[in-house]
Amino acid sequence: MSHAIGHVTWRAACGLVLLACLVPCASAAAVKKWSVLGPFVIGKNELDGEAWRSSNSSELGGAALKKFVAQSGGSVAVSWPEVDWQSLVNGVGGHEILEWQARAVGGFKTDGSNVHISCQGVTSFTLDDSQSFVGDLYWAKLPAHVVKLKAGNHRISIRLRGKLQTQFACHVEKPSSKSPLLLFGDSFAALPDVISSPDVPRGIQICGDLGLGSANQDPDRWIKDLRPVLINNKFLSLAPEQPRLHLAPGQITRASVRLEVLPDVGPCKDEVFVDVAFEGMLGEERSRSEALRLRLKCRDVTRQSFVFTFQDADGSLQHAAAVLPWDTEKSPCKGACPVLVTLSGTSITARDSADAYKMKFNDKDPEYRFGIEGAWLLAPTRHGAHNWEGPGRRTALSALAALPQLAQRLALPPVDASRVVVAGHSMGGHGAWLFAFAHDVLAVVSSASWLRKDQYADSNKVLLHDLATPKVEPLLQGLLRTAEAEFDVEAQAATVAHLPVLIRVGSQDRTVHPWFSRRMYRTLLSEGAKDVTLTELPGKEHWWWDTAKPNDGGAVNDPEIRNFLKRVLDKEKSPSSLRWRSVVFGSVGGTLRHGLRVRALARPERRAEVSVELPEKGPAVLATSNVVQLQWQRSKEWQGVQQVLLDGQLQSLPQEAVFHQVQWCLDFGTWKVCDFAVAQRHQRHPNQAGPMREIYSAPLCGVSADEEGEKALQFFGNMLVMTGHGVIRLLSSQEVEVHGGQVTAPASCENLLVVGAPENAVVAALLANSPMAFDSSMLSLGGCSWLRGENLAALSLLPWKASAKEPRLALVATGTSRSAAEALTMLSTPTIPPMARQPLTHLLPDYVVLDVEETRRHGPGGYLAAGFWSNDWQRLPSAYERCTPRGDRGTQHRSHRVAEEL
Ligand SMILES: *[C@@H]1O[C@H](CO)[C@@H](O)[C@H](O)[C@H]1NC(C)=O
Repeated sequence: MSHAIGHVTWRAACGLVLLACLVPCASAAAVKKWSVLGPFVIGKNELDGEAWRSSNSSELGGAALKKFVAQSGGSVAVSWPEVDWQSLVNGVGGHEILEWQARAVGGFKTDGSNVHISCQGVTSFTLDDSQSFVGDLYWAKLPAHVVKLKAGNHRISIRLRGKLQTQFACHVEKPSSKSPLLLFGDSFAALPDVISSPDVPRGIQICGDLGLGSANQDPDRWIKDLRPVLINNKFLSLAPEQPRLHLAPGQITRASVRLEVLPDVGPCKDEVFVDVAFEGMLGEERSRSEALRLRLKCRDVTRQSFVFTFQDADGSLQHAAAVLPWDTEKSPCKGACPVLVTLSGTSITARDSADAYKMKFNDKDPEYRFGIEGAWLLAPTRHGAHNWEGPGRRTALSALAALPQLAQRLALPPVDASRVVVAGHSMGGHGAWLFAFAHDVLAVVSSASWLRKDQYADSNKVLLHDLATPKVEPLLQGLLRTAEAEFDVEAQAATVAHLPVLIRVGSQDRTVHPWFSRRMYRTLLSEGAKDVTLTELPGKEHWWWDTAKPNDGGAVNDPEIRNFLKRVLDKEKSPSSLRWRSVVFGSVGGTLRHGLRVRALARPERRAEVSVELPEKGPAVLATSNVVQLQWQRSKEWQGVQQVLLDGQLQSLPQEAVFHQVQWCLDFGTWKVCDFAVAQRHQRHPNQAGPMREIYSAPLCGVSADEEGEKALQFFGNMLVMTGHGVIRLLSSQEVEVHGGQVTAPASCENLLVVGAPENAVVAALLANSPMAFDSSMLSLGGCSWLRGENLAALSLLPWKASAKEPRLALVATGTSRSAAEALTMLSTPTIPPMARQPLTHLLPDYVVLDVEETRRHGPGGYLAAGFWSNDWQRLPSAYERCTPRGDRGTQHRSHRVAEEL
């Protein structure tokens, strides 16, 4: 249930897949001979330089070009026994040094037709040093990529990463299936359960849409208007409305199928099989995939957990497990039941996460009791190394948002989503804190949690051994770290200090040492926490099933936790104290907490805080820092309060029921009810909070007008599937238009990713109001101008508003069409095995300007500018730039034209 255990489980799983692969892969020719240049040091984050581009000298003790031959099955094992790893760990200090990078090159021959190419065990590979493709890092049977190649010799190059050792494989084969439309399941499927219960009047019900992998294996043509075909099924039929889907050439995604239960079908036993195919238009031809058999489990919700699917914030279909509340008559349900959201450690399935909440009242009971008393149990999940940060946290919040409708649709006990307790174990213990910062919860249970990824074990140390380190000055490092500030648990301890908090850890936990729990406990106490408990369970390690006696609920559901939940759920919703604080970083700002929402910060990249005191008589006292727009709405906490002293300025609260909310704006030091003119100064809507990873805050579409950009988007989209089961809808350039400076896209697009040169009409329209200014030869920002050479590129968040909708975000990758595409591809390539994050989710602020070639050599040391945009989308004084200030003579990024003008 931990990072470390997850690592082992993953390896074990890979071993099995490898064996399983031997038979179906037999027809594929493995690339056998490899030359590998290494080992070199590497940082522990998603981006670092490639050493061999600058020098072949290595501080690990000499790098060499070695030959490796694939074993039968194609897998290549790479290690460096000549390196004295032990002395490096002892002498340099720490296990971070065990991770290395190397460049592997292998060749193959074709007779000049389409080939299928796939590599396993790596995040990506490059063909003939030109196009990059997504690797099947987890050996999860990600489909091969189809490429059109000239007859002759070709080469695959891979940037290998390993910790002590690594294993990878590449296969090249002729396409075998007739249709380029491919469906695939396995770990890529999100399958809802079919539930039956005596309480459900209609026999069986299906808990959401089916998600399954789909790929367009045509290298040139779109497959349009995909629709599912259901092959005779006794229980289910296709719903009349199906999500609309087109697949770009080479695109891999997750497609949804909406099914309905046929009338008058009886209860299901064990499982229901669904045979489904997809059909779409390949130009004028109809193309049909082979059918895929999916197995839906039948579950009895009166005594078992069940899995449901839901639409996540980013538009992808994700799944969660849930268990109905039990003993609702004498429990705190009262009409609707509160929810315990539980977040799991790495590699635990949603079902296992929910089923960890089991116990027996009496050891002789024949059956376990699942779930908890008087509350729904909700166990969301998301594939990949999200750490419940960014897209992972949104998945948890989206699962919670989906639960009430699901319960209503399936006639299950109603859900009170305003009364939520969050719990979690290991990585989920970290997630429980983060969830509590972004949702108004009643209490927190955090077990065996760590606090910051870069401070936990040897993972993700920022700029320690990285090649980039000597090139990244402290100011730039600060900006990169600022992008992660909202995941720093300790820094936001004040936000949960007024809540009941239970921290638990095994005293012998060596996976997540009790140090982290003790540290959070001390920090909470220093922030004034009154109702916080730290329990170190003597002799327990990272996970256990029995705490004091057999089947007593163990690590996540033993009597201590059950009693805590009972206490916090029984209370009517009211603050446990009449004082609270909210610390706000980045996207957390939009959270409504005890009737208050921070809508805009003076400096969006900085920490903000609101503190509240509700005295028994007289006005409430609010103090803020770095806040310029604040929304209040009446809630239980504020019963009877009529006035507020806001930073010492008296404000009255609307008393009439119709005016149950008010927004205040800070107008040159004076708080006022917002008027339009003042609110206009904060043009950046809360939906438009950065940093770059916030493009996943709403369904994302991608578009490019040139071929290189389209290939980069294909890579980005496929990487999203591989790393996080995420989706991007790719658009053809005709689907995005510019009218009167306004960019329009299909209605399902809420955020937009655009790749192309600044001359492209869409890019130009989005950049129009940005301080990032391109003319025919220069990119200018702040006091800097850079020559628009072939390596200059920029990625930037920009405001975008799809017509008639709330303001949203665009992310533009621009430069030349080639450098824009390369920058997006490079920054979207995760490099940490096996914990690869979703593209653009780590250490990236609102914008970066980069030299593509320098960034390949030096990682973030190749950035020319980086920073966050202000509330009115302007450059902030905290920004980083590296350039020749205008007026000085000669550097590599200096325009000759400008030199002449001087
Ligand atoms: C490193 O070695 C490889 C293989 O021998 C060679 O191709 C490359 O040019 C070398 N790099 C440098 C910077 O010398």
